[in-house]
Amino acid sequence: MTAAAMAKQAGADFAGRTAVVTGAAGGIGLEIARQLAACGASVALLDMNAAAVTAAATGLDGAQRHLALAVDVSVRTEVERAVASVLDAMGRIDILVNSAGVALLEPAGEVTQAAWERTLAVNLTAPLLLAQAVAPAMCARCHGRIINLASQASVIALRSHAAYCASKAGLLGLTRVLALEWAAYGITVNAISPTVVDTPMGRQAWAGEAGDAMRALIPTGRFAQPAEIAQLALFLASAHAGMLTGENIVIDGGYSIQ
Ligand SMILES: NC(=O)c1ccc[n+]([C@@H]2O[C@H](COP(=O)([O-])OP(=O)(O)OC[C@H]3O[C@@H](n4cnc5c(N)ncnc54)[C@H](O)[C@@H]3O)[C@@H](O)[C@H]2O)c1
Repeated sequence: MTAAAMAKQAGADFAGRTAVVTGAAGGIGLEIARQLAACGASVALLDMNAAAVTAAATGLDGAQRHLALAVDVSVRTEVERAVASVLDAMGRIDILVNSAGVALLEPAGEVTQAAWERTLAVNLTAPLLLAQAVAPAMCARCHGRIINLASQASVIALRSHAAYCASKAGLLGLTRVLALEWAAYGITVNAISPTVVDTPMGRQAWAGEAGDAMRALIPTGRFAQPAEIAQLALFLASAHAGMLTGENIVIDGGYSIQ
């Protein structure tokens, strides 16, 4: 059975719902977009890779329902223009998934200011810009689901991940404050914190010996698959998760319990 079929069987029905997914041209964002589309949602795919995001949208179930937008999510004007286009085309936004992210890895003593600022801009500022842009439409319907892709790096230290760990730890703080302030408007806000996931980012950051060493420390003995992360995102986006807000759900095969 496909992951999308499993999500559907578990009761995740998104017919009539509209989702904005950032970083949707590849990796985890694309898999979340796929599963949402397979469960009936209309999906706006945002990514700075214009060619890849267009191809991604045309490959989804019900391709005519979806929208591909080339956007740098760290730029407020681009985010606001994109969200206005989604509302124009689709009329509503029920779900926001912030999956766009970068991992620029250097030992802490060598982190450049440019790498630090780019990491914070994409991994931390962009989720705030997106949340601010979609909130009025969610508040108007008194319903919304915001899901932020954090990382195990939000709760533990990883070598050469100073900027990345700081950005993801910050994202948890942002998640909790948005959850607190917006619960009264029917909006839930949660974070997902995976271990290494088998995506272009995961394969690049954890190639060779570093990857073997990391895998050996994960009790389940393997990295996560994008479909496993997407299943959790669909649950958080579903009607079943209305009482779950301000949480960080760690999905790391037991890495951080030791
Ligand atoms: N892969 C992992 O091992 C892993 C582990 C834990 C958390 N995460 C997090 O999950 C999220 C998705 O990771 P992934 O593995 O799918 O990464 P990926 O590199 O495979 O895909 C990220 C996507 O984001 C897009 N993107 C990057 N910067 C952007 C910007 N400024 N504007 C718009 N789009 C932009 C890229 O073009 C790409 O399509 C990230 O936030 C990442 O930090 C990944």
